[in-house]
Amino acid sequence: MPETPDYQTELESLVSRLERIASLGAAELEAEHVAILGRKQGLLTNILRALPGLEAQARAQLGRQANQIKQQFETAFAARRDALRQAAATARSGLDLTMPGRRRWVGVEHPVTQVTEEILRIFRELGFTCALGPEAETEWLNFGALNFPPNHPALDMHDTLYVDTRDRRLSSHERRRGRSSGVEPDFERRTTAVDRRRPESEGRVLLRTHTSPVQIRSLLAHKPPVRVVAPGMVYRKDAFDPSHAPAFAQVEGLVVDREIAFVDLKATLVHFAHRFFGPETGTRFRPSYFPFTEPSAEMDVHHQLCHGKGCAVCKGTGWMEILGCGMVHPAVLENCGIDPEEFTGFAFGMGPHRIALQRFGIDDIRLFYEGDMRFLSQFGALGR
Ligand code: DAH
Repeated sequence: MPETPDYQTELESLVSRLERIASLGAAELEAEHVAILGRKQGLLTNILRALPGLEAQARAQLGRQANQIKQQFETAFAARRDALRQAAATARSGLDLTMPGRRRWVGVEHPVTQVTEEILRIFRELGFTCALGPEAETEWLNFGALNFPPNHPALDMHDTLYVDTRDRRLSSHERRRGRSSGVEPDFERRTTAVDRRRPESEGRVLLRTHTSPVQIRSLLAHKPPVRVVAPGMVYRKDAFDPSHAPAFAQVEGLVVDREIAFVDLKATLVHFAHRFFGPETGTRFRPSYFPFTEPSAEMDVHHQLCHGKGCAVCKGTGWMEILGCGMVHPAVLENCGIDPEEFTGFAFGMGPHRIALQRFGIDDIRLFYEGDMRFLSQFGALGR
């Protein structure tokens, strides 16, 4: 007896080809149509053609099933043809209804701005106010008044950019007033003034190499007690590399009052470190040198990634330097007309770019300058 093909199994395997029809392209769709429903050799056509030769009961059952499946295929082929025709029509009209909608970028504060604001917020809680100074500064205010001796090697350290003022002198307004830059609106702003008694001796104009001249401007404008923080950009003749930039942010701090001692500096800055980096963060002070402070120190905090254990990023030390500080040098107070016998003070300076690198675990400072939204949009939710 010749073996009858297993029509039942063949039907079932055809059903499994139904689903993919909805994703076929035009040419594939026609090929599939021929393969299944083609008049000469379509797989389903062949089965239907074989039905009359079957025994009555099998014929009735298979026939019903086969016709049902044929219907399903016809519906699926027709639906896919329609969809393809419609897609072709919209493509011709230039309108693609399947395109996802355009998303607008939602602006976020730059990570360095966020860090700066957070630093300012902590000092504002302690009763500091915010002072601003201009970015184009005089030699006297940037160096001289801060006790840098002329021709001192510390001047070389700063790689100063000088401004050519042969054609244009700074207006007295520009000299006196700081330009505002990114400070919380409810911050009290103080106008800081240049010492008008010595305008001729102020020397060349330069791009400030640090925010320390705002110390001088604050002390010239206000009698102690003075408690200010001064954020702003500073400039040095440095090329961009992973850890250097020719322009970067600083936050300066200054406290001058009666009986201010090193313990006030230490307590204030340790409090700051605990508020900013977390209450468990270890701190240490190392002796250092700055012309405008005596004694001078640098403050380290436990490295953020290894929590003081030492890792590759902190070169195994477990520490990272976050600021320079010291007791205000008596000569600086004298330069501002303040009697160092009556008043003492402390000062500090830190770099929000560096701190932001540490905080976010970023290894290349240039990312902060490139304006790449793929990088910046990662900082949307922080601290808000
Ligand atoms: N002006 C210093 C710099 O840019 C930082 C600094 C150190 C500021 C010690 C200070 C200070 O106020 O006390 O390198």
